[in-house]
Amino acid sequence: MHSVHNYLNSRLIDSVPLLELALKKDHSWLIANNDYTLNAQEKRTLDHLIKQRQKGIPFAYLSGTKGFYHLDFKVTPDTLIPRPETELLIDIALDLFKKKPCRLLDLGTGSGIIAITLADKNPHWQVNATDFCEKALAVARQNTNKNINFQQGNWFDAVPNQTFDLIISNPPYIEQNNPYLKDLTYEPQSALVSGKDGLDDIRLIIKNAPKHLNKQGYLLLEHGYNQQQQITQLLKDNFLNIRKYNDYNQQNRAILAQLKL
Ligand SMILES: C[S@@+](CC[C@H](N)C(=O)[O-])C[C@H]1O[C@@H](n2cnc3c(N)ncnc32)[C@H](O)[C@@H]1O
Repeated sequence: MHSVHNYLNSRLIDSVPLLELALKKDHSWLIANNDYTLNAQEKRTLDHLIKQRQKGIPFAYLSGTKGFYHLDFKVTPDTLIPRPETELLIDIALDLFKKKPCRLLDLGTGSGIIAITLADKNPHWQVNATDFCEKALAVARQNTNKNINFQQGNWFDAVPNQTFDLIISNPPYIEQNNPYLKDLTYEPQSALVSGKDGLDDIRLIIKNAPKHLNKQGYLLLEHGYNQQQQITQLLKDNFLNIRKYNDYNQQNRAILAQLKL
């Protein structure tokens, strides 16, 4: 029997969220209707989803959405799936500027989570977002009706001659031979991998950010748990007030620095 009850007690990976997806019902409906029997079409849809998930396709690519901070975002295989660690960048930015005006740049916006979340929290900020992947930018544009300036291009090439009060980036930062990458094959590798030591893109961003920052402007970067020391060194020439942050797993995860006068 293919009743809701059986799936609620199943040990299949993500069986309950997949059931919610197949039936287009939420969890409380499933609990209240646990004697419901799936019809043939619903069973086919669910079996297909279960097969896809067992192949390793992330749940977010099957549902097409992922929650981040206080909003839901469309995601596709052209965009990285938003990670909860990245919410740290939002907290830091909100705390830094409080309600003050800010001209913001989100470099490598992917599905748009950083730019859109901050634009939603601070409607008076001037928000700009870039990516070199046109398909990712198309998803980001669909994720908002806010007045965000999306530009396509290789890092700062997308914003020639423009300057900002705050530049935020969650760039690719995984080393190219990292064994962990085999678990991430469904996500765009260009969103994840950055050369031998994972720092190729961060080096480029740190080198070019000063030309694009207003006086006393800030650069805020997400990075790998083992990259904090090297990034601090890279920042020292042009930045001061370097502040380091851990994520909720107590791993080094973000660094904030202010342009030297
Ligand atoms: C780690 S993902 C972050 C996406 C999104 N900001 C987030 O936090 O979920 C890195 C993003 O940088 C973009 N990217 C990679 N290399 C780039 C480059 N050279 N110029 C501009 N964007 C780039 C990727 O397409 C991807 O969307």
